[in-house]
Amino acid sequence: MAEQPVPDKSPNRIAGMFDAIAPRYDLLNRVLSAGIDQRWRARAIHSLRLAGTDTLLDVCTGTADVALAGRAAGASRVLGVDFSGAMLSLGLAKVRAAGQDGRIVLVRGDAMQLPVASGSTDAATVAFGIRNVQRPEVACAEMARALRSGGRLAILEFGVPRLPGVRALYRWYFTRLLPLVGKFVSGHGGAYSYLPESVGSFPPPAEFMTILRQAGFDDVRADPLTFGIVYLYTARKL
Ligand SMILES: C[S@@+](CC[C@H](N)C(=O)[O-])C[C@H]1O[C@@H](n2cnc3c(N)ncnc32)[C@H](O)[C@@H]1O
Repeated sequence: MAEQPVPDKSPNRIAGMFDAIAPRYDLLNRVLSAGIDQRWRARAIHSLRLAGTDTLLDVCTGTADVALAGRAAGASRVLGVDFSGAMLSLGLAKVRAAGQDGRIVLVRGDAMQLPVASGSTDAATVAFGIRNVQRPEVACAEMARALRSGGRLAILEFGVPRLPGVRALYRWYFTRLLPLVGKFVSGHGGAYSYLPESVGSFPPPAEFMTILRQAGFDDVRADPLTFGIVYLYTARKL
C-alpha cells in the first residue's frame, strides 16, 4: 500500500472528517477491529508503566479511550488534546460518566502546536492519530518538548503486515470491506476510504523510528501487534 497517493491532511479537512464520523466512531472501532482495538490501547498504556504520580498527555485523544485507560492504569492526571470538537464532546461525556472529570481534562488543540508547557508531562501517547497529522515530525518534536527528560512515549499506528497471506487478506479487508462497512454505518463516504490511504502513505516503521530519534527520543522501539496490523512505538525523551 506504500504506493498510494498522499491524501490531503489539511487540518480543516481532517477535523471536519472526524467531526462528521464522531457519533459512530466508537461503534465502528469495535466492529471493524472485532474488539481488538481496546487491547492495542491497553498494550500502549501498559508500556508506559505509569506510577500513581505520573501525568499523561494524550495527543489526538478523540473520544478519550486512551485518556480513560491511562487514568485507570494509574496516571494521576490526564490531559487529552484534539482538534475535533465533536470527538471531544463525546470524549467528555465518557469522562463524566466514568466520574473522572476532576482528573481528565480535554482541550481543543493541534498536535503540531501543543497547548502545554515544556517539560510538563511524565508520559505521552498517540493512538491512531499520528498518521492524520499533516507534519508528524512536528507533532513528535512537540511531544518531546512537552515531556520531561526521561519521560516516556507510546504511539499506536496501523502498519502493513509482512506475512504474504496475512498481507493479502489485510489489503482486501482494508481497501474493500472496511470502506463499505464504514460508509454504511457512519454515512460518510470519504472517511473510511481515507483510512487505507492514510495508512499507505504513513512512513514504514524504520523511517518513523528515525523521525522519533530526530525529534529528541532514544530507546526507540517498534513492536508489531496482531501480525503487524498495528505497531506500538515506544521511546524515551532524552
Ligand atoms: C483515529 S482518531 C483516534 C482517536 C483516539 N486516539 C483513539 O484511540 O480512538 C484520530 C484523532 O486524531 C485527531 N487529530 C488528527 N490530527 C490532529 C491534529 N493535528 N491535532 C489534533 N488532533 C488531531 C482527530 O480529530 C481524531 O479525533
